[in-house]
Amino acid sequence: MRHVLSLFDLTTSEIQELFQLTGQLKQQYEQGLRQPLLQGRTMALLFEKPSLRTRVSFESGMAHLGGSTLFLGQDVGWGQREAIQDFARVLGCYVDVVVCRAKRHADVELLARHATCSVINGLTDYSHPCQALADLYTLQELQGPLPGKRLAYVGDAYNVTRSLAIACGKLGLRMSVASPPKYQLDAPFLERLRREVPQVQLELTDDPRQAVRGADAVYTDVWTSMGQEAEREQRLRDLAAYQVDSRLMQLAAPHACFLHCLPAHRGEEVTDDVLDGPQSEVIRQAANRMHVQKGLLAWLLK
Ligand code: CP
Ligand code: NVA
Repeated sequence: MRHVLSLFDLTTSEIQELFQLTGQLKQQYEQGLRQPLLQGRTMALLFEKPSLRTRVSFESGMAHLGGSTLFLGQDVGWGQREAIQDFARVLGCYVDVVVCRAKRHADVELLARHATCSVINGLTDYSHPCQALADLYTLQELQGPLPGKRLAYVGDAYNVTRSLAIACGKLGLRMSVASPPKYQLDAPFLERLRREVPQVQLELTDDPRQAVRGADAVYTDVWTSMGQEAEREQRLRDLAAYQVDSRLMQLAAPHACFLHCLPAHRGEEVTDDVLDGPQSEVIRQAANRMHVQKGLLAWLLK
């Protein structure tokens, strides 16, 4: 039984296998075929924070595969009504897989340690592995083989950024991260990344122009993530010079795409003209969440 709490949990060849399976499932879906690979299997979605993409793409994807989903919100008392160890052992008796979106990554680790079924991280303060898988699948779909490509990330280096850094390292892309020092990738993460993914090619800078120049993809995420709302005013000031606008996009390679995990805070980390512009692939990215997660479910529960 396997868990996917971060992309440290998957090897390069497993990610490549997953992308192949995703491609097959996406092609079948587009041809109107929905193979019931997971008939009779059940998935719990245990969500402590709001979601559109993660929740709906997992639910819909599981339905395409013939399985069923239980959405577990506040009423199940996660982390409040009983110890997570007990919660995990009981939930594992009922379902084949749990997708958990939680405030604290440590809680999802505890869930996985005690669950008798697979656990997939649906976003925590530490990582968002399903997002980065869909992002790099999208880039491969758009631009072909990934090794040697360069992704520039601009803004707050947080959960999505960490997952992208692992994915880029494992799949042979270079990554440049432009953030103010206070919002740059943290030292404990970097230490683990360099230890577990020694081939990683990562450039850290505080200059968005330097990061974006010549890049194949430009990526940003919100400056105020879920749970950080009290810091919003400070973050708006600290990150103001890191907005992705059309002038910044012009420094990227002519074929570069703009990526964003969404939801976006328009006018903050990205301008409307970039988000809605011809280089923006954010809707393809969101759509691919479902295809990649179908691949992940089929692969994990095979
Ligand atoms: N990108 C993403 O995870 O979106 P949701 O928060 O809507 O799930
Ligand atoms: N960094 C964002 C990602 C949302 C998908 C957050 O954690 O809110």
